[in-house]
Amino acid sequence: MQKKFLISLFLFNIIFALLALEQSLASSLVNDDELATSALHPKQMKWEFEGIFGRFDKASIQRGYQVYREVCSACHAMKQMSFRNLGDIGFNENEIKQIASEYLVTDGPNDDGEMFERAGLPSDKFVSPYANEQAARSANGGAYPPDLSLIIKARHDGANYVYSLLTGYKDVPDGFNLASGKNYNLYFEGRQISMPAPILEDNQVDYKDGTFASKEQMIVDVVNFLQYSAEPEMEHRKKMGVRTMIFLFILLVILVMAKRAIWQQVK
Ligand code: HEC
Repeated sequence: MQKKFLISLFLFNIIFALLALEQSLASSLVNDDELATSALHPKQMKWEFEGIFGRFDKASIQRGYQVYREVCSACHAMKQMSFRNLGDIGFNENEIKQIASEYLVTDGPNDDGEMFERAGLPSDKFVSPYANEQAARSANGGAYPPDLSLIIKARHDGANYVYSLLTGYKDVPDGFNLASGKNYNLYFEGRQISMPAPILEDNQVDYKDGTFASKEQMIVDVVNFLQYSAEPEMEHRKKMGVRTMIFLFILLVILVMAKRAIWQQVK
């Protein structure tokens, strides 16, 4: 009996060691080779919104909106977001009105059947940089900058992926066959992406709250903002989850006590 157990333990160990060896071989072959074209696994970051007690860092989300607005929105739409959604991340009504009014929105048709332009209102969606997909592609060498509203959900391990992508631009290794108009990026499939590195230097945006806008800070902030836009209800959902668990626990205690009280008399 004991022998069998030892043998199976031994076999198990061998299989495990082989698996580990294969893993490390595979990763050294695929990931460390400079000329490889497969994307690296995203870096694993610690985010405040993760875990059952996950919370949104509103100050960071607000700064992230500023990064989106001043950098990413030159190419990327966010059609699921309205200006009034900015209220949820801490902007007040006047600020929202002010931000919306800085955009021109196409509205209509009017009584003459014509479309017209007017200043944006809080109820308007974020204004897209291009009139349509064709215009977007033609301005970006044929590639389409996707709408960013839900990008964190649309990609596996979304937050870590977007963080890694934005920090993943590197010099092209010698001998790597980079197509024209593409940029070398370790985390994009094929390791070449049409998007030029959007966050290039510290202080690219001038944060209103005085936070130092290091490259890292801007990227973390914009990821926090995109996480919020993809899952605005997350914080509420998690709070409700925790409250439900507490409620169920209290209920369990009451039920156990009730059961004991009732059965005591039967004995
Ligand atoms: C100059 C235009 C431009 C700017 C500015 C820009 N992007 Fe992009 N982005 C693109 C293009 C083009 C693509 C499509 C790339 C491709 O398919 O090769 C893209 C793709 C992406 C993707 C999707 C990658 C994937 O997995 O498909 C993400 C995420 C992204 N951009 C985030 C951002 C963020 C965040 C910012 C602002 C910090 C930003 N981009 C700024 C042009 C831009």
